[in-house]
Amino acid sequence: MRIASLLSLSLSVLAASAETIPKTDYDVIVVGGGPAGLSALSGVSRVRRSALLFDDNRYRNGPTRNMHDVIGNDGTPPAEFRGLAREQISKYPSAHFRNGTVKSITPTGNDEVSTFTVTDGEGKNYTARKIVLGTGLKDVLPDVPGLQEAFGKGIWWCPWCDGWEHRDQPLGVLGALSDVLGSVLETNTLYSDIVAFVNGTQTPEGEAKATASHEDWQEQLKAWNVKIDNRTITSIERIQDGGTHQNKTAGIQYDKFLVHFTEGDPVERGAFITNYPTAQRTDLPYDMGLNMTDSKIKVDTSGMRTSEFGVYAIGDANSDGSTNVPHAMFSGKKAAVYLHVQMSREDSESKISKRANLNLRELEKEARRAIGDNLEPQWEKVKRGN
Ligand SMILES: Cc1cc2nc3c(=O)[nH]c(=O)nc-3n(C[C@H](O)[C@H](O)[C@H](O)COP(=O)(O)OP(=O)(O)OC[C@H]3O[C@@H](n4cnc5c(N)ncnc54)[C@H](O)[C@@H]3O)c2cc1C
Ligand SMILES: *[C@@H]1O[C@H](CO)[C@@H](O)[C@H](O)[C@H]1NC(C)=O
Ligand SMILES: *[C@@H]1O[C@H](CO)[C@@H](O)[C@H](O)[C@H]1NC(C)=O
Ligand SMILES: *[C@@H]1O[C@H](CO)[C@@H](O)[C@H](O)[C@H]1NC(C)=O
Ligand SMILES: *[C@@H]1O[C@H](CO)[C@@H](O)[C@H](O)[C@H]1NC(C)=O
Ligand SMILES: *[C@@H]1O[C@H](CO)[C@@H](O)[C@H](O)[C@H]1NC(C)=O
Ligand SMILES: *[C@@H]1O[C@H](CO)[C@@H](O)[C@H](O)[C@H]1NC(C)=O
Repeated sequence: MRIASLLSLSLSVLAASAETIPKTDYDVIVVGGGPAGLSALSGVSRVRRSALLFDDNRYRNGPTRNMHDVIGNDGTPPAEFRGLAREQISKYPSAHFRNGTVKSITPTGNDEVSTFTVTDGEGKNYTARKIVLGTGLKDVLPDVPGLQEAFGKGIWWCPWCDGWEHRDQPLGVLGALSDVLGSVLETNTLYSDIVAFVNGTQTPEGEAKATASHEDWQEQLKAWNVKIDNRTITSIERIQDGGTHQNKTAGIQYDKFLVHFTEGDPVERGAFITNYPTAQRTDLPYDMGLNMTDSKIKVDTSGMRTSEFGVYAIGDANSDGSTNVPHAMFSGKKAAVYLHVQMSREDSESKISKRANLNLRELEKEARRAIGDNLEPQWEKVKRGN
């Protein structure tokens, strides 16, 4: 009799907490298995949050030979880096991986608690309390023969990625006239022979655009000895592969290309820096109606929170203004810590059946208004009950 009533008492306590925190398949679902998503998965798994990571293997640095400027892993092929990360994270029993595409994410929670249904390519549903988007960006390259296949292999957008391996070689700058000086200012410590192939953008409008960003761009380019070639590009032909022509001791890759034009002679270069746009890798952020800024998922950087309660965005995809592997890892880590603590607070409130006088969504809004770092004082306020 006594045991029975104790049992029903504990059952009713369970029921009370189940009311506020619905049961989900996972605590967290991470979309994207690049350095951002893997870092977030590591962060939540080490504190035993159950998590499922979806990945469909379209990595931004997929085409590159080696990854650089990631300390301890300078020169590691990206696939090897991700492989080791997966192997290490797999030690944690609450971490799970799925190869597959997330097709949709539907919020199913309320103002108190966030929950989501994630639907994959096979139409299967998975539920979680928090969502982390590490879905990345893609590079939008012009459809010029030879460019796509050489991207990441002698043609790159970021001097930290591959500039050193082509140091002192003849460099080309690809893209609009207005972006040339920016590229020169990033690369002048590595290259002295620079030609900008502006592909017909040296027009009065193109020059006005260049002037708008740097008033004396012409004098500055002259001072760096940069030549401008305005001819229309027809193709970029590889004549030597730096993947096989290398000095491994010196860490130099000898790629060689010819730029062909509608008229006149081709020009030979050893490497190129590009100025082409990027776009979200997946439509998910648009389908979910997340606030965007400049084609990036808008986040409050204190915890990488998006405009949707319970959804976090990390890595290249977010508006943090940084697209590199260290940032991907840093932002993944930041989101992991934030959402773990947030979930624990939700669990804690629920355990004592306390309803905060400010609901969680309101609290997030408050924190955002205060630009993030004020979340702690906000929680303190709630705890004190004012
Ligand atoms: C050619 C090149 C070379 C680079 N070299 C370097 C370098 O040397 N050093 C450096 O620091 N940075 C480098 N970068 C930048 C680096 O690649 C990015 O900053 C980094 O990959 C960002 O990591 P991420 O996890 O945000 O995105 P990604 O690595 O792009 O990973 C995103 C993942 O999410 C997956 N995904 C997207 N949508 C879905 C969905 N709906 N369902 C399931 N999965 C999904 C994608 O398929 C992909 O696997 C380079 C970039 C390029 C283009
Ligand atoms: C996912 O795909 C990768 C690459 O295709 C493969 O190496 C890996 O074993 C797959 N993982 C799972 C869990 O199927
Ligand atoms: C999956 O979830 C979606 C969104 O909540 C729902 O519309 C759909 O019916 C679910 N599918 C299955 C197979 O349960
Ligand atoms: C050059 O300009 C043409 C015409 O505007 C365009 O179609 C092409 O994609 C551009 N090529 C490069 C390499 O930017
Ligand atoms: C550059 O090329 C464009 C397109 O062919 C042309 O309109 C423009 O006059 C050229 N500029 C110069 C300075 O020759
Ligand atoms: C490769 O680089 C090393 C170190 O700079 C140099 O000593 C060597 O001569 C180079 N080898 C070749 C084949 O050029
Ligand atoms: C998101 O955008 C809407 C509409 O522009 C705006 O009202 C809201 O404040 C934005 N939220 C965040 C968190 O930026």
